[in-house]
Parts: sequence; structure tokens; C-alpha cells
Amino acid sequence: MKDITTTLFDIGISSNMSNFIGREEETYHLESNFINGINTVLISPRRWGKTSLVNHVREALSDNESLSFVYLDIFACKNEYDFYKALTSAIFKQAGSGIGKVWNDVQDFFSRITPSLSVGTQGTPEYKLSFDFHQKNMDYESILSIPEKVAQKTGRRMIICLDEFQQVGEFPDSEIVQRKLRGVWQLQKYTRYCLFGSRRHMMMNMFQDVSMPFFQFGDVIHLERIPSQTWVKFICDRFSFGGKHIDASLAERICSVTECYSAYVQQLAYFTYMYAPENGDATEEAFSKAVDALILSNEPQFMQVIEPLTSYQMNFLKAILCGHVKDYGMESVRTEFHLGSSSNISRLKQTLIGKDVIDSNMRELSIPNPVFRMWLSRRLL
Ligand SMILES: Nc1ncnc2c1ncn2[C@@H]1O[C@H](COP(=O)(O)OP(=O)(O)OP(=O)(O)O)[C@@H](O)[C@H]1O
Ligand SMILES: [Mg+2]
Repeated sequence: MKDITTTLFDIGISSNMSNFIGREEETYHLESNFINGINTVLISPRRWGKTSLVNHVREALSDNESLSFVYLDIFACKNEYDFYKALTSAIFKQAGSGIGKVWNDVQDFFSRITPSLSVGTQGTPEYKLSFDFHQKNMDYESILSIPEKVAQKTGRRMIICLDEFQQVGEFPDSEIVQRKLRGVWQLQKYTRYCLFGSRRHMMMNMFQDVSMPFFQFGDVIHLERIPSQTWVKFICDRFSFGGKHIDASLAERICSVTECYSAYVQQLAYFTYMYAPENGDATEEAFSKAVDALILSNEPQFMQVIEPLTSYQMNFLKAILCGHVKDYGMESVRTEFHLGSSSNISRLKQTLIGKDVIDSNMRELSIPNPVFRMWLSRRLL
């Protein structure tokens, strides 16, 4: 029977085990951090593969008897109470049979920290606990210590993986919340955290700014791109798995057009496969149709990026596209592209960097997302 969990290429889903490639060093690094109890922060541009890597490592360590994992995407959490609730629910759902060992303690514990407690059926493999946190008298330290209690009882270090962690930076009174979390987490003995998120700039602000509570919270891993030779082999293999063929040189071009952005490599490879003739070779024509399809399919997301931009900001993007990556402050450039005054330029720069639309490296600006750049060139130039 055909394996229905297998996909030819992974589009829009975290890479499944069979399609996970490369990242040997990062896998080893993250495994080592988990096994040795090192808090970890994972940073990369969007769609490079943070979630896939964490899932891969959790899967690889799933048989490790001294660890238990909790994974939580906190994108939907709008304030610290949402966060505490989501975190506690995730711990209960995912800590598995270990919860059984602490069940009595937990009930007692909850009845003390929250007045409205309702307990689901005990004795079933699933322990259900529904609760409501009352904001006024909420004892956040007790709530944050739940994983510690569970881990201590079960004898397994608990690794809590928090995806889209930059969301904490958007909470009301965010710095106070960050200080609370850091204050409790750094004293824990049995619980460790792996924090990662898709807004690179916000993550950098939270973890690499000396004045922020999470500065030096743990080992910060900056994820690199998966190299093109790894992708080329993968693409050629997937084509032949699907009964088609692609030359290594064309697979190489898939990597160069997408600059090895993981999600775009998978997408462009799939479109090229789709347009290649049945049982035949991927052609130049299929590739160029695939590039168009790649740009088109990402258009709605790019529209969302530019919609809130002002005309000055759009003009600035145009100047960068035209190669003014360093001399954008010169009067002639400012006049040609209608960028306004010098002080306006530094505002434009900071806002666009803050939105992850542009990047600055040694004062040289770039538009890092290659497909966005192509789309923008087609529209603006
Ligand atoms: N190691 C990998 N092997 C194969 N494909 C991968 C790998 N890592 C990432 N991908 C591809 O890239 C896509 C994006 O990966 P993922 O969602 O893990 O990135 P992310 O960095 O978490 O993204 P975001 O910043 O949006 O949260 C996946 O759907 C998959 O197609
Ligand atoms: Mg992710």
C-alpha cells in the first residue's frame, strides 16, 4: 500500500521525518544542549527551518528516558495570562503518562492556586484538567513552577520548546513579563527551554540586547542555510522517486534562484516537478514556469507586507532594488527616489529593519527574501 504520510516535497508544513535533510551539525548541537540541560535560543530568517529542526530533534530523542518534551506554538497568545494557560495545558497534554505520577499533587496544587478548578475523569490514560486563572491574585511563580514539579516527580528533565516566542515581546508590559519569566526559569533545575520564533529582528532584540531580561539566557544558535549540494541531491532523489528526472545543473539553479531558502527550495522544486512532462526530464521551460508560479503563489503574503508601507518606505525599497545599498543618504539619491530628508532616511531604515523587510550588514542594506525581491522588482522596476 502506498505510504500516505510521504510527500514528494514539503510545502507549508514543517518538514516531515522522511523529507528532513542536512542540518547534521545543528541536530547534534541541539541534541547535545537538550541532553546536557542547556537553554537554547534558535534564530534565523523566516522559513529556514527552525520548527522543522526542533521537531526533528524531538523525534530523534523521543526514546530518551531521561527527557520529556513539551512543544507549544504561542502565536495566538495575546498576553501573559493566555501564555500561562496555554503553557500549563500543553504540559498536561504532552507530559504523557508522567502526569499520572503527579496527579494527586497536581490537583491539590491547583486547588490552592485557582479557586475554579474542575477535574476531568481520572483513571483514563488522558488526564483532563480545565482551569481558569484569575488575573488579580494569580500566583505566576507557582504556575511557572508546574513543569519543575512534574519533572522532579517523573525523574525526566522537561524540555519546553516555545515556538513563535517573539510574541512575548508584543504582550502588554512585555519587559515586566520577560523579567518574570527569566527570573523563574533561570532558577529551575529540572526544566529547560528552547525558544525560537519567526520574527528574526524581534528575537534578536529580546535575546541579544544587553538591556533586555533575556540577554544571555542560553546558547543562541543562528541557523545557517542548508547548503546547495545537500539540496541538489535531495531534489534529484525526489524527482526520481516521483518517476521524473532533473539534471543536477537545473537543481542547482533552483537553489540559486531561491538562495537556499528552505521553504522556497521545496516550493520551486515541486513546481518544476509539476511542470516537467510526465515520466520525462525537467526542462528549462518547466523551470521558468515554476519560477512564475513561485512568485505568484507568494504574492498574497507579499501584498500583506507592502500594504501598510508608506510611499516613502516604498521609494526606499525601490532605491535599494536599484543598487543604492550604501549611498542612499546622498542628496542625489534622496532626490531621485523622493526619500525626504536625511533624518527621514534613518527612520525609514529602522522601520523596515524592524519589520524584517530589509537587513543591514556593516551599513550595507539588502532585501533578504529572494522571492519578495523578485516580486518587487517585477512590480516596481
Ligand atoms: N531540514 C529540512 N529538510 C527539508 N526541508 C526543510 C528543512 N527545513 C526546512 N525545510 C522546508 O522549509 C519549510 C519551512 O520550514 P520551517 O517551518 O521549519 O521554518 P521556520 O524557520 O520554522 O519558519 P518560520 O520562520 O515561518 O517559523 C518547511 O515546510 C520545509 O519545506
Ligand atoms: Mg517556525
